[in-house]
Amino acid sequence: MRINPSILSADFSNLAVELQRISNADAAHIDVMDNHFVPNLTIGLPVVKRLQEVSPIPLDVHLMIDRADTEALKYADLGVDSITFHLEASSDPKSLITNLRQRGVKAALAIKPKTPVESVFEYLDELDMVLIMTVEPGFGGQSLIQATLDKIPVLRSAIDACGRNVILQVDGGVTLSNIGMISRFGADCAVAGSAVYGSGSAADNISALKLAAANGG
Ligand code: DX5
Ligand code: ZN
Repeated sequence: MRINPSILSADFSNLAVELQRISNADAAHIDVMDNHFVPNLTIGLPVVKRLQEVSPIPLDVHLMIDRADTEALKYADLGVDSITFHLEASSDPKSLITNLRQRGVKAALAIKPKTPVESVFEYLDELDMVLIMTVEPGFGGQSLIQATLDKIPVLRSAIDACGRNVILQVDGGVTLSNIGMISRFGADCAVAGSAVYGSGSAADNISALKLAAANGG
């Protein structure tokens, strides 16, 4: 299981150091929020640009913003590894996926808890990753919504049937106690904010999450 720590739970006054603390992770998950698509405001282009320059690991940028169709391309031009935009925020997901991939960036589609998982199926032929939100987007430290877990095996089967290596990512409320189940259900990659940065060594927390996922609980 890949673990992408969310810097939403990191110390925002010290982000370069906070990225170093997770250098054993597969990628750093960067939550961009605009106070419109979600009721919270985090960071934007100038900060993500600097994070890309100093990060020891690839950046996995999760855009929780309106007007994804135009804004996402600006983040892609920073050279980040992947861009995730919300299906609910795009008027033309297919074109945006194509435009992102033409820029050499991995393209990913996210769905909120109430959006049916079947709505991403038509894009699987072109996507690099699908993100199933397991909390309502906007804030770290929430409890995982159990009903969202049902989407994981459904999407796993659809990805396997399409024959492409599309990463299945989950985001929100991931802990040491539920990551085994998330892994068993078929996710490849888990975002974890408070479970990594909450207490103790972030690097050790990442290793513990990976071990718990490998052991299936
Ligand atoms: C929520 C964000 C998540 C969040 C995860 O809107 O997309 O990435 O930071 O934080 P935890 O792991 O604390 O739920
Ligand atoms: Zn996120």
